[in-house]
Amino acid sequence: MAIHAFLLLALNAVAESRAALNTRQASTVTVDLTKTYQTMDGFGMSETFQRANQMKALSEPLQRYALDLLFNRTSGAGFSILRNGIGSSPDSSSDHMVSIQPKSPGGPSATPKYVWDGNDNSQVWVSTEAVKTYGVKIIYANAWSAPGYMKTNSNDANGGSLCGVSGASCSSGDWKQAYASYLVQYITYYKELGVDITHLGFLNEPDLTTSYASMRSSGQQAADFIKVLRPTLDKANYTDVKVTCCDAEGWSSQQGMMSGLSGVSNMLGTITGHSYTSQPGSPINTPHNVWQTENADLQGAWATTFYSNNGAGEGLNWANKIYDAITKANVSAYLYWVGVQGGATNSKLIRISDDKKQVIPSKRLWAFANWSRHVRPGAVRVSASGGPNGSKVSAFKNVDGTVSVQVIQGGTGAGAVTVKVNGFTAKAAKAWITDNSHDCDEQVATVAADGGSVSAQVPARSMVTFVLEPAA
Ligand SMILES: *[C@@H]1O[C@H](CO)[C@@H](O)[C@H](O)[C@H]1NC(C)=O
Ligand SMILES: *[C@@H]1O[C@H](CO)[C@@H](O)[C@H](O)[C@H]1NC(C)=O
Ligand SMILES: *[C@@H]1O[C@H](CO)[C@@H](O)[C@H](O)[C@H]1NC(C)=O
Ligand SMILES: *[C@@H]1O[C@H](CO)[C@@H](O)[C@H](O)[C@H]1NC(C)=O
Ligand SMILES: *[C@@H]1O[C@H](CO)[C@@H](O)[C@H](O)[C@H]1NC(C)=O
Repeated sequence: MAIHAFLLLALNAVAESRAALNTRQASTVTVDLTKTYQTMDGFGMSETFQRANQMKALSEPLQRYALDLLFNRTSGAGFSILRNGIGSSPDSSSDHMVSIQPKSPGGPSATPKYVWDGNDNSQVWVSTEAVKTYGVKIIYANAWSAPGYMKTNSNDANGGSLCGVSGASCSSGDWKQAYASYLVQYITYYKELGVDITHLGFLNEPDLTTSYASMRSSGQQAADFIKVLRPTLDKANYTDVKVTCCDAEGWSSQQGMMSGLSGVSNMLGTITGHSYTSQPGSPINTPHNVWQTENADLQGAWATTFYSNNGAGEGLNWANKIYDAITKANVSAYLYWVGVQGGATNSKLIRISDDKKQVIPSKRLWAFANWSRHVRPGAVRVSASGGPNGSKVSAFKNVDGTVSVQVIQGGTGAGAVTVKVNGFTAKAAKAWITDNSHDCDEQVATVAADGGSVSAQVPARSMVTFVLEPAA
């Protein structure tokens, strides 16, 4: 007891002296559980384009460390969504994702010639670990393109459209049904291995023609295909698998596809968009959950810092991007591009060193962890206001009854912050801090005697997450 009290005093003294160096802040965040917004599905990333092979090639202890960093809720980010790539390529050269039907069966109504290696570029391994070891429940399988022989340009790369959608006719015929059956077969291969795919996408950046797997589509053309895909899924009893659309390259471009999709809204599950050509700054007009499914600092030199000069790869920057997408654009999920891979840029959260002897997390990962560990699938965002000058605050009610509150102090203010949740009595609380010197480290959180509020220190340039447990 005495030692405990002494430690608390010492911690407070440290916090006080740190605060004195910065602008003082003492403020209250008010949370209103009766004012609700979107329901969350979670946070995630991808190991597509053979990135999963890079993880699988690590030594066993490093494999485990990498998997823990991605999916473990106490030692890693606790990601709740994995985005896999459905291959379309005829081969596995370079970083290609090979198709489950590399060669044309002869025509759209010919008997399919599927080929399954049970490995899928090690995505089966990552998915199985995610689901069976870490309890991940959301697996998003996403095709970048249909195989070349189903397309107007006879190539899975370089754009082209699916034969049979509006304005895309091919001498080989209409391949819509064949493509739908092919995607359903992919789900079945995973199901047979004990992995349930929950979300299915058939497009990636349909507004971009590029040298890797890519297929063009307008909203209307996507709707043409969804009218075939949804009944094909239902017939195979995949009634719970949600159809996503359209993973456009930027947020406004995804918004631009929505009018073309209006006739198939009841067949759609989730709206998906990327952030490369425009960031999620406002809600997409739809009743469905909306996911930000790809963003990254693609070119920036590898950086591990939380805050230095607000560079594109810094953790604080990513904490803010996630905040904006959730609070301004109503997203229910936020995914980075790649989780783990080698190479010298920030296109991933975790780097495999060039000699493959180390796996190095960046602070971007810990920024995600701040959200992902404590805002779990099914959590409902609730109103949060106030907070220290210059800070951003958000709050969520989790399915288990806990309330999690994020305070991002992007400026130089520092000091105690009190969280008050109206109509809620806290039995216990915890706080975790991420900044230049902490990676989601637990810190002292003090519950008021009446359980009506909780306080903790929020330093400059940091993100602190409070989790309040309800009194029984
Ligand atoms: C997650 O990490 C903790 C702490 O290292 C460890 O005790 C636990 O076994 C890990 N959980 C899983 C599912 O591997
Ligand atoms: C779908 O489920 C129904 C009812 O359980 C069953 O009769 C049918 O055979 C199933 N179809 C497939 C393709 O699994
Ligand atoms: C936010 O998303 C939810 C679905 O998760 C939807 O019901 C709601 O209308 C959306 N709100 C806005 C402002 O777009
Ligand atoms: C809040 O911060 C801004 C700069 O970010 C500053 O101009 C203003 O004086 C601050 N207000 C208070 C009450 O500290
Ligand atoms: C957020 O991440 C940082 C690591 O940079 C960590 O210190 C902090 O505890 C995390 N916060 C939460 C709530 O997990």
